[in-house]
Amino acid sequence: MASDPTTRLQTLATAIHQHIQQTPDVRTGQKIDLPNITNTTYSPVLMGQQPRATQFIPTLLASPHAGAMAQVMALLAEVQSLLTWRQNPNYTVANVGQQFLDNFCHATLTSADGPLQGPTLPMGWFVLFGPHTLYKTHQHPPNEIYLAITAGGEWQLGTQDWQALNAGDALYIPSNTPHAIRTHAKPILTYSIWLEDADLADIEI
Ligand SMILES: [Fe+2]
Repeated sequence: MASDPTTRLQTLATAIHQHIQQTPDVRTGQKIDLPNITNTTYSPVLMGQQPRATQFIPTLLASPHAGAMAQVMALLAEVQSLLTWRQNPNYTVANVGQQFLDNFCHATLTSADGPLQGPTLPMGWFVLFGPHTLYKTHQHPPNEIYLAITAGGEWQLGTQDWQALNAGDALYIPSNTPHAIRTHAKPILTYSIWLEDADLADIEI
């Protein structure tokens, strides 16, 4: 494993993008297009207060993984020190509840603010959910892709039935489609990509 941050982060982002490019949308069977990752640079992201949900990271990294998601997990373990786990600053006890705040966090991998920057990169981040957690219905203008890195989560689009994603499944969520996510006994790790530029403040919840 190369030791420089740019190479490590780019290797991980490439593994994720290539997997999604090869994985039809679980709902429609359609191919998901993503830009290739080239000409990236590393920009350190400042550490903040560690969200409580980071307590589940060791469990997630230590649990068994297979196939492409085993590779993603191994690469993720190599870049842990370069990622900054955060809470969405717009989420409060009033709008999402304390239980959700304690069981949800994200760490950006690709964005204009780093840690991996590049001219063709959409915003992408790891999103972690604790057990028995409901990310209630919300929506946003960007088209979104979720990759389930671990199994155990369920997604709901609009009023459709809840759909479980296995490890390695990809789900395309069209612009402004209401969606919700829930977990059961296990924490889950996912990767989310917004295909158009936007801000976390653009999430309606
Ligand atoms: Fe979303």
